[in-house]
Amino acid sequence: MTVALPAETIASAKLQLQSAAAAVASRYPSQVEPLAAPPPGSGLKPVMGNYGFPVLGHILDTIADPLDFARRRYDRYGPVSWAGGIGFRVVQLLGPEALETVWINKDKAFSSTRGWAPVIGPFFHRGIMLLDFEEHRDHRRIMQQAFTRSALEGYLDLMRPGIARTVRGWPTTRRFPLYDGVKKLLLDQAAEVFVGARLGAESDRLSEDFHHTVYGGQAIIRADVPGGAWARGLRARERLERYFAVQIPARRAGAGTDLFSMLCRSRSEDGDRFADEDIVNHMIFLLMAAHDTSAIAISMLAYELGRHRDWQQALRDEAHTEPADELGLDAIDRNYPLLDCAFKETLRMYAPAGTLFRQAIKDTEVAGHYIPRKAQVAINVYASMRLADWWPEPDRFNPDRFTAGADFGAVGRYAFAPFGGGVHKCLGQQFADMNVKAVMHQLLRTFEWTVPKGYHPRMGWGTGPTPADGLPVSMRRLGISGGGGGSRGGGGCVRW
Ligand code: HEM
Repeated sequence: MTVALPAETIASAKLQLQSAAAAVASRYPSQVEPLAAPPPGSGLKPVMGNYGFPVLGHILDTIADPLDFARRRYDRYGPVSWAGGIGFRVVQLLGPEALETVWINKDKAFSSTRGWAPVIGPFFHRGIMLLDFEEHRDHRRIMQQAFTRSALEGYLDLMRPGIARTVRGWPTTRRFPLYDGVKKLLLDQAAEVFVGARLGAESDRLSEDFHHTVYGGQAIIRADVPGGAWARGLRARERLERYFAVQIPARRAGAGTDLFSMLCRSRSEDGDRFADEDIVNHMIFLLMAAHDTSAIAISMLAYELGRHRDWQQALRDEAHTEPADELGLDAIDRNYPLLDCAFKETLRMYAPAGTLFRQAIKDTEVAGHYIPRKAQVAINVYASMRLADWWPEPDRFNPDRFTAGADFGAVGRYAFAPFGGGVHKCLGQQFADMNVKAVMHQLLRTFEWTVPKGYHPRMGWGTGPTPADGLPVSMRRLGISGGGGGSRGGGGCVRW
């Protein structure tokens, strides 16, 4: 007889194994050396670091505890260092100055196409984030038309019924896997709002192919080996390509308000529109860009509110000022100052797009360090927003950091940058804001939830730090009144 182990137990065993292997690998004596010698007379410093364990480099460290690893590198080498990882020497950037330099990309020295290609290229090639320079600008001008305010209002109309139906249908139980619930909610939403598909067999097939495409990019064995995650991802992507391609003519001619239809009809101010294959590539990328990031944001916010009941109740009181089902975009923008602060603090602590990639296409510099052409660069957004130099008590959930009138002191523009910066700054920021608030609005009005004292979810890594144990929470359905009074007043939230 075979006994199936619960997913939670398997995830826990996997993480323990990874931690043990990382502890062994981190003791390997790897020599510290410069990545490359700076040109004589340049006045630049070399980027220092070490490869780590043979072949694997520091990959196990970064999987087991990415935050601890990044902080140790920062303490030892400062904001710019390098580390080995499966055949690559990767420059690690931390802190606002280094992040700003690469995002602003004044000298066009950093390529997104080349930076992202080895990471997710086969699965998301020619998605907008993987385009460079003029071509990227031209595509962004067209895509922007699918993210105007009136387009967002259309998406909100499509998403509201599904959110209400799903959240109200969640069970009252002591161990509801909230992260899994949110993922399922967002997958159904992707089908309805992004694709304009019907829920049922069609959306289930879509979800499955989408899942394999995303996880293909995270495979450790990165080759088209039959049965492997990489191969499954490639086949899933091919099916998605066919699925979208055949529908384009009808979507161009129709009047649908879902994102796919909007993208098919989008034109830049000069009248340019996307070719069919661009639409396919952008749709597959957009599903990925939106899904895991929003799932991390919603579930980690709910987790922190499960630990900080005073904030949960204050947010519930705030949610009760709006009608249950007709939440509009104006209300989302104006009437949720506390939720806004709590959401920002969640993004600061659990950056859902945790590491971004670039490649130097000419010799350049970051924060006084010499970066040679062809250097692969990892922009560590996650750890940057957890550096004590900019955020006192960086591991403490404290939305008051963002309330109006709070003392921001040394916090610069790029110290809080969960949506990135420069020309590739997230195009879906308002969409994400609207989505997270619409889900939290229903959740706060329908349930009260807690997590056991001292519980910290085991974290893995997807697009950013991701709960690996499903994030079990104890849910209690509320009566009409919505629980007791809050302990916090209103007050504005700082705009960024
Ligand atoms: C909390 C949720 C989200 C976070 C934290 C987030 C974060 C980011 C970040 C950091 C980037 C920059 C990537 C880079 O510089 O290489 C990015 C790009 C992008 N995001 Fe988001 N994102 C979120 C949700 C969304 C959603 C919901 C959508 C679409 C509906 C979206 C669409 C995009 C697009 C299209 C880009 C590429 C922009 C370009 O290259 O011009 N994102 N996102």
